[in-house]
Amino acid sequence: MAVQTIILGIESSCDDTSAAILRNSTILSNVTANQAIHEQYGGVVPELASRSHQENIVPVVDAAIKKAGIQLEDIDAIAFTQGPGLLGSLVVGTSFAKSFALARNIPLIPVHHMKAHILAHFIDDARSHKPTFPFLCLTVSGGHTQIVKVESASRMEILGKTIDDAAGEAFDKAAKMIGLPYPGGPLIDKYAKTGNPIAFTFSKPRIEGLDFSFSGLKTSILYTIRDAVKLNPNFIEENKVDLCASIQKTIIDILIKKLEKAVLETGIKEVAIAGGVSSNSGLRNALNEKTKEGWKVHIPKFEYCTDNAAMIAITGKFLFEEKQFANQSVAAKARMEW
Ligand code: KG4
Ligand code: ZN
Repeated sequence: MAVQTIILGIESSCDDTSAAILRNSTILSNVTANQAIHEQYGGVVPELASRSHQENIVPVVDAAIKKAGIQLEDIDAIAFTQGPGLLGSLVVGTSFAKSFALARNIPLIPVHHMKAHILAHFIDDARSHKPTFPFLCLTVSGGHTQIVKVESASRMEILGKTIDDAAGEAFDKAAKMIGLPYPGGPLIDKYAKTGNPIAFTFSKPRIEGLDFSFSGLKTSILYTIRDAVKLNPNFIEENKVDLCASIQKTIIDILIKKLEKAVLETGIKEVAIAGGVSSNSGLRNALNEKTKEGWKVHIPKFEYCTDNAAMIAITGKFLFEEKQFANQSVAAKARMEW
């Protein structure tokens, strides 16, 4: 019988507590506890997030093990998100992973959250094809926006990144301006479906190279809304779907334009997207359109777009093969080098 490796993955970098069991490259379970508590505050409150992780981590891991139909003794290694993220949140997953590895005497594998978003593409999934190296990956989340050249699971080069807000942040801040609760990205996506994407035009950044900027767009949306509300107090309610469609189109145009530039400059036409914003239907459609220009595109399944432990487990598998293990002195890192 072939040797099997079973890895437990733990993710706790922001407001989702997640645990996954991976056998070789197949996900057996991927359980996530979302923290609804932050909605009322319009953003993630770090202290509350940390406390919720402490409450959730053991039940979530238990549920993942049960759902996978394995025994505790079957786990060969534990991989966890070391960073980047909220320190108080990361510490919960890190401490849990360290204790677990110590108690079970198994390897402890620290994982970089953003690299994990990219490597989620290598989870076995009959419905999609895995990217072949080298490929470009647009990683778009609540905290990051990057174009990464992925040469192997361990060799990744950042070609461009945001100099201010991340794409997810742009969605969330715009959503807040039109009175939508946090996180507003998915709601903009939902309302955009019935709106007119060219009803409003917002200013786009004029930034050279492959870097991104979203702070100007934020101001442009703010001024458009402010001026219109002065003339019509019901402006937002009456134009909600058109505002959402126009905001979404502008963000996607910015992202796609830079991807086009990266494809041109590198000659690499194999393109993937990753991170929370990659679940945006407009972005997925825009990328699919690019296949007409000869791009080979890779779009993750929805459950592997937003934060999840399956991506931590698959990254753990790559690092397990390279024996990239940590000892008990490993610490969570809010900022983590690439
Ligand atoms: O990767 P992720 O789950 O967490 C971070 O590592 O940040 O990304 C969360 C971000 C949030 O800003 C959220 O609004 C955005 O992803 N997001 C979306 C959609 N789903 C999640 N943005 C636009 N459209 C969506 N469908
Ligand atoms: Zn993330």
